[in-house]
Amino acid sequence: MAAAAHVLVLPWPLQGHINCMLYFATGLAGAGVHVTFLHTEHNLRRLAGAPSSAAASPRLRFLSVPDGLPDDHPRSVDSLLELAASMLATSTGAYRSLLSSLSSASDAVVGGFPPVTCVVADGLMAWAIDIAEELGVPSLAFRTASACSFLAYLSVPDLLESGELPFPAGGGGGLDEPVRGVPGTEGFLRRRDLPIQCRRRRSDSDDVDPMLRTLVDLTVQSRKARALILNTAASLEHAALAHIAPHMRDVFAIGPLHAMHPTPSGSLWREDDGCMAWLDAQADMSVVYVSLGSLAVISHEQFAEFLSGLVAAGYPFLWVLRPDMVGVSQATVLQEVARATGNGEQARVVAWAPQRDVLRHRAVGCFLTHAGWNSTLEAVVEGVPMVCWPFFADQQINSRFVGAVWRNGLDMKDVCEREAVERTVREAMESDEIRRSAEALAQQVKRDIAAGGSSATEFQRLVGFIREPGI
Ligand code: UDX
Repeated sequence: MAAAAHVLVLPWPLQGHINCMLYFATGLAGAGVHVTFLHTEHNLRRLAGAPSSAAASPRLRFLSVPDGLPDDHPRSVDSLLELAASMLATSTGAYRSLLSSLSSASDAVVGGFPPVTCVVADGLMAWAIDIAEELGVPSLAFRTASACSFLAYLSVPDLLESGELPFPAGGGGGLDEPVRGVPGTEGFLRRRDLPIQCRRRRSDSDDVDPMLRTLVDLTVQSRKARALILNTAASLEHAALAHIAPHMRDVFAIGPLHAMHPTPSGSLWREDDGCMAWLDAQADMSVVYVSLGSLAVISHEQFAEFLSGLVAAGYPFLWVLRPDMVGVSQATVLQEVARATGNGEQARVVAWAPQRDVLRHRAVGCFLTHAGWNSTLEAVVEGVPMVCWPFFADQQINSRFVGAVWRNGLDMKDVCEREAVERTVREAMESDEIRRSAEALAQQVKRDIAAGGSSATEFQRLVGFIREPGI
């Protein structure tokens, strides 16, 4: 029965995952479905007081489970496997009890919420899908990265089988060699465009990196879910979606979600709105916005190269430098930016920006980004040219699509010497061709999300699917 649908939405507890699953949850609630959004206790505490902690709809509420780590644990890029192990040990039990209680008929209509009828779990949490199915609750997998990266992970077993992986040992040689075996990418995919973990081996052996192994296993396990949900649009990733479809029970491409179901910010960091007034004072399309997302860390040397390149390019720049991002104190970072820009107005540094607002500001001329999938989609929708310096995981392949397929930007992968930064930023700011491609892509994606477009239609189909009794 339509009115009885209640979905438990479970994001992997990192910023890039929370954001798009929150847009998704908001969209479901807007379509009349009850939604319980399950944070970790740690994140819910960080979000307390943020607009997102007050639900945007009476049909959307927030609950939490522990992640098993102490509050002062960094939960950084170097400890992702630790976070995964801790959640497996701690969160699974709490989740099982909660789901068991929320899905039982005796708990019906607690706080106006009917029993949970379906789980949508981040595909990186295969255990959430297994437990739901064990409890008789149908479950769907949501992958927050691009379809092309999902397809790349799905192809890794074949690449291993055919000997394409692991890459030949020895000093990074051969990274420009083409990769055969990721369908639909013939002619443009190179070794260096595969997830960076493909370049690493378990020390002293021919075995692949443990993180890659984990991501591939999780991707393959997504097949067990009743359907796969992707935050992408058919017009962006048509070929990848077509090649994924035969592997899954059903696939829904329903993005870019941020543009379809706007919601108050779900930022784990406090957004520094002061940069908006600074942007107001800048000329149209004159500013380079620089952000490497929520996880990337750079060395002091890389920071210095970026800084010199940005100063030399000559445009004003707004730079997000999280306090944990460069291996030196924030005070040092700020002093070095001030010194390099002569204490002038060329630069503004913030610890965290209201990124969606920044990207739609008339003053922003290009986006120097790590090509995380959310950031990529946010730039695509606003028609902002990109300069990509991918850091890890899906970002290597996303940036290749930007530079070689959509041509809405340039891929600066693996280099950040000052001359390269200066040259690439200048080209992205000044190239009419890139700007035209970025604007055309934005129009194309806006058609996907408008009523009757592919993403809007798929979202409606998904709501119907979720409402089907027993799916
Ligand atoms: C990583 C992956 O690369 C991504 O593809 C995957 O789906 C999740 O993990 P992350 O480093 O978090 O992501 O980057 P991204 O996917 O771009 O997400 C970052 C989010 O934080 C974006 O929604 C962006 O708007 C937001 N953000 C970033 C801010 O709101 N303010 C900032 O200052 C920086």
